[in-house]
Amino acid sequence: MSVYFTQIACLQCGQSLPPDLNLLRCPACGSPWLDARYDYAAVAQQWPSVVASRDRSLWRYAELLPLAAPVETITMGEGYTSLTRLYAYETLYNHQPIFVKDERQGPTSSFKDRQAALAVMALHQAGIHECVLASTGNAGAAYAAYCARAGIKLWLFLTSLVPSEKMREAALYGAEVVKVSGTYDETKHVAAEFAQRKGIHLDGGAKAVPGKEAMKTLAFEIAEQLGLKLRQDGRWQAPDWYIQAVSGGIGPLGVWKGFSELHQMGLIDHMPKLGIIQAAGCAPMVQAFAAGKEQADPVIPRTLITVLATGDPGYSYPQLRQAVLSNGGVMRAIEDGATFEAMRRLASKTGFSVEPATAVAFAGLEAMLQDKTIQPGEVVVVNCSGHTFTAESHILGDQYVHDLQLSVNGKSPRTQDGLDAAIRILDEQVTTILLVDDNPADRRLVKRLLHRYKQYRVSEASNGAEALKIIREEPPDLVITDLTMPEMDGFTLLETLKQHPGTAHIPVVVASAKTLSETDARLLESYDASVWTKGGETGTRQLVEYVAGALGHFLPKESSPHKTVTAEVIAAAKPRVVIIEDNPLERRLARRLLESDGSFQVIEAVDGREGLKAIFEHRPDLVILDLMLPEMDGLTVLQALQGDEYLREIPVIVVSAKELTQAERDQLRSHTHSVMEKGAFDREEFLYVVHNILG
Ligand SMILES: Cc1ncc(COP(=O)(O)O)c(C=O)c1O
Ligand SMILES: [Zn+2]
Repeated sequence: MSVYFTQIACLQCGQSLPPDLNLLRCPACGSPWLDARYDYAAVAQQWPSVVASRDRSLWRYAELLPLAAPVETITMGEGYTSLTRLYAYETLYNHQPIFVKDERQGPTSSFKDRQAALAVMALHQAGIHECVLASTGNAGAAYAAYCARAGIKLWLFLTSLVPSEKMREAALYGAEVVKVSGTYDETKHVAAEFAQRKGIHLDGGAKAVPGKEAMKTLAFEIAEQLGLKLRQDGRWQAPDWYIQAVSGGIGPLGVWKGFSELHQMGLIDHMPKLGIIQAAGCAPMVQAFAAGKEQADPVIPRTLITVLATGDPGYSYPQLRQAVLSNGGVMRAIEDGATFEAMRRLASKTGFSVEPATAVAFAGLEAMLQDKTIQPGEVVVVNCSGHTFTAESHILGDQYVHDLQLSVNGKSPRTQDGLDAAIRILDEQVTTILLVDDNPADRRLVKRLLHRYKQYRVSEASNGAEALKIIREEPPDLVITDLTMPEMDGFTLLETLKQHPGTAHIPVVVASAKTLSETDARLLESYDASVWTKGGETGTRQLVEYVAGALGHFLPKESSPHKTVTAEVIAAAKPRVVIIEDNPLERRLARRLLESDGSFQVIEAVDGREGLKAIFEHRPDLVILDLMLPEMDGLTVLQALQGDEYLREIPVIVVSAKELTQAERDQLRSHTHSVMEKGAFDREEFLYVVHNILG
């Protein structure tokens, strides 16, 4: 820690807290909005002279950073990017000087590298090995790179609109990429839920100390570089304008803080004005500012510039509003079309190729020059915030992303159930199972049945030796292995796994056609392996159910371990039917009909919400659904099932007391297998339909 880092202030209640980088919330008011404070008087005695001779990275400003020095194994020399004159624009708009802070020069080509460097080093120092981040793309790539260097596992939540090149880039760095079909604000929400449920650290973004502290180095560099370029007296200089494309606002918040510190220390003689530029399709700050509002109303983003898609800026807005009001800056919006024109103009006239999000700032600059918001002679600095490289699709294939669908048919469910279900499915998707079997047909059967139940990630090996190699590279959550295999058999594989501390904890399920001797059975038991006898489709289905249960994914607790699949057990695997019906009489009738027949296992639910939960938990073979239900009606249940690529396969019989119109019947028929009206309910017909569906 820097010795000058003296305290943390809570931005919400003003409480003064100890300088602890691991602090996530203010203990007094619970706010996550924390801000680092330093011994400015002491630093002012040394700056700027001590800085001049130091390394060209953001670490030259270590006194005013929470970490005194970079972690050598993690740093990539981040920061100290060029400040370059934009001569062509100066001529074009008859204004000078215009400078570009070229943040494309960061290790992953955006200004988020600063934030990632500092945040990841802070995680590393706190001994944190896993982190969750929601991002519109560039912070994701930056964190992925720095996490790779630090050996930290990154769970990166991106909206499905983020270009696949950016997702691939992050995946290339080894991040677990989760693609969320929803807005960025929903993506942040789902990431936070995921982090909380899994007990993984969630990056605090603009709220937390590392982010703003990293971004303020932009201000320090600009002041130092402008001093060198525009003055002869060795002093630093603030620009008159700092212009940036803004989404969540961490950049301008940090930069404003940096200039404020320099001003407070007497190192610059004025504060710059902020030019906050947003994409018109997602401009909650601009709208609120124009309306004179102290809080911004969230918007649903309608812009092609996905990087700038923060619809709800939260507490960033009032802080930036204050900054703009205090010094005469602007907030303004730019239409996408104007942005793309500016992007082409900038590249062709100046040689700066930037991404659309960055071009928003340049389009803003052009507009401000044209309408004379920028006065003659004012010194302008634009943040050239990013330009990412693209990872070729053939490098990673199409398996680099987990697809999390929050919305159904373009409409977001926004319910807790939708979110629960989505996170549950994600949990399945990130669970890895290794299948070890020399018989490809057996592997295929297990894989197919696994995928029918759950969306687990499945890798395969054809013998023990191959399996060991895979396990050492990327330990799976569970191994299913055959016993008799060439090269290395299942016993040796188990023994090797159990001997090594890194792999001893991995649960192993043995699935073998071999009849076990007493000794073999005891040996396997001593290894804590569950043993299943391979038994065709039904036996394998039981195995798969057990595996899902062992992994803790929402199967009834009674699935018992250490079970050999015998003929009787197989026979007991009756198809499961979930009945969702609020009327107890009707429910009992349906249950009795199904059970009297002797071939079904029945699960009851009394309202739509419970019904949906039962379907997720039990993955039934059939659903009997009433339409008029408390909590959540039958149509909503149907819609939720339709939105899930696995659940939509489950046949549904709708039983309704309501007289249905032909149109309603038609509509239902497109989603369901059968519609029965209670008035005309016929037991024979009901059983006939059920048997027909379940074959
Ligand atoms: C290239 C680029 N420009 C601008 C922004 C907006 O930055 P801020 O988070 O400071 O609002 C981002 C944010 O991701 C970005 O990646
Ligand atoms: Zn507080």
